[in-house]
Amino acid sequence: MMNSVKFGITLAMLTTVLTACNSENATTSATGDKPAASATSAKSIEFVDTQEGKPLVIDAALFDTPAAKEFLTTGNNPYIGDADAIAKGKKVFQLYSCTQCHGPEAKGQVGPGLTGPNYKYPKNATDKGMFETVWHGTNGGMGAKGVGLMDPTDPKNGITPDELLKIIAWVRSMGAPAPAAS
Ligand code: HEC
Repeated sequence: MMNSVKFGITLAMLTTVLTACNSENATTSATGDKPAASATSAKSIEFVDTQEGKPLVIDAALFDTPAAKEFLTTGNNPYIGDADAIAKGKKVFQLYSCTQCHGPEAKGQVGPGLTGPNYKYPKNATDKGMFETVWHGTNGGMGAKGVGLMDPTDPKNGITPDELLKIIAWVRSMGAPAPAAS
């Protein structure tokens, strides 16, 4: 019973991802994945890239803190509203030059503002969506992990999942909060 429910949901998510012609639809649906994520045997949420909604494989070993592990399992960012994490996120945002393009308050500079509620890629209203956008980059001038010149497939390059969750927590603290994944 649990298995078939889970299978159905997984299939539904997959179908959505495969059939959606634009990434916005695909990822909005894919983020509503609580049932699959909370099933005992489902260890991970499914990431998709921002341009095409294609599967985005991220080495689970990189999710090496309790918060990162929880995010990988549930799609929820435990750092939202956490003052320490938010302060750290602001520093990491500066450290990785996000500031150069998105401005010191993330309200936009060369790149767009990140505080919402409206995004170029609507999926960025969710923490999972924003995570995917930053991790994978876009075709429009947003390099993977904010470091377009680095090899995004090299897991040693750029921010870690834990750092990215803190960045997102800070960005959210500057604007509209993301809808919870569960
Ligand atoms: C070299 C400039 C540059 C840097 C550095 C950069 N970005 Fe971006 N970013 C952009 C541009 C340009 C876009 C618009 C991309 C597009 O239209 O596809 C963008 C888009 C985004 C979006 C999607 C916004 C939306 O409206 O959907 C997010 C989220 C984001 N960036 C976060 C970050 C974070 C976090 C960092 C640091 C790790 C970062 N960016 C570093 C230039 C940059």
